[in-house]
Amino acid sequence: MSHILKDSGARAQLIDGKAGAALVDAAVKVAAAELTPALGRTPALAVVLVGDDPASQVYVRNKIRRTEAAGMTSIEHRLPADTSRDTLLRLIEQLNNDDAVDGILVQLPLPDHLNAAEIVEAIDPFKDVDGLTAHNAGALVQGATGLRACTPSGCVWLAKQALGDLTGKSVVVIGRSILVGKPAALLFLAENCTVTLAHSRTRNLAEICAKADILVPAVGRPHMVKASWIKPGATVIDVGINRIDAEGGKSRLTGDVDFDQALKVADQITPVPGGVGPMTIAILLANTCTAAARRAGQPLPAALAELDLP
Ligand code: GUN
Repeated sequence: MSHILKDSGARAQLIDGKAGAALVDAAVKVAAAELTPALGRTPALAVVLVGDDPASQVYVRNKIRRTEAAGMTSIEHRLPADTSRDTLLRLIEQLNNDDAVDGILVQLPLPDHLNAAEIVEAIDPFKDVDGLTAHNAGALVQGATGLRACTPSGCVWLAKQALGDLTGKSVVVIGRSILVGKPAALLFLAENCTVTLAHSRTRNLAEICAKADILVPAVGRPHMVKASWIKPGATVIDVGINRIDAEGGKSRLTGDVDFDQALKVADQITPVPGGVGPMTIAILLANTCTAAARRAGQPLPAALAELDLP
């Protein structure tokens, strides 16, 4: 399935995450329509945003727009930055108990006075469409049924679209966050890859990266990964989304990879923006449909099953 690979004019082909996300969104739309009669309503995703972090505002706006475009219900809770722990936990409890809510997402980061781990853990695991609760993280470790974290699922799906079966590939993930690095390592392992999870204390990082068939930087440091760290012919899935200064006093987004140089070495690479980023919301919508089907005791709609998401 190479229809998301695009010519770059250099050695590497671009892995078009926007095209990939459009494919997933379209399948989710079919699946949502198929589930609606059994549910007696459209699948519903509740998003909770605390405070006014500008990047989070953009994410949440896009989430709402794409949820509605996929024919699903978007429920929005915007709370002030000084919202108390008890108020937030009460809201989550209310959403947990609301039968008309299939998915709950608390946008991260939360303001400093709130303990994100505690808040996330309060979400009903069957509505945890971010896949971040201990239940779903444990299910991933065990290879059991559960909801998988969105960004890492998007990375694995893009790699499979670019390469087909990943069995036996050597994968190096850089970054050990709960949101991306750790679940990405486990998801590539579940695809029969040989996985190295590198991080800020890793020795000989460049040499380790240069052995990877699939390199997955998820660090948040612009242009950290140099062309010399990339094995010729490798696939690069760049999770970094960094805002940097650009000409004319403007800013622009860039990844963790020195992209222009990497284009001459890799065989496939995700651009930033337009690579991994758009996939996160696509997987979130797919997870919401999956949660709706499971909660209603319905089979996964064929359109969703055929995507072969992680
Ligand atoms: N903030 C940045 N990415 C994410 C994500 O995938 N989920 C949540 N809840 N917050 C985020």
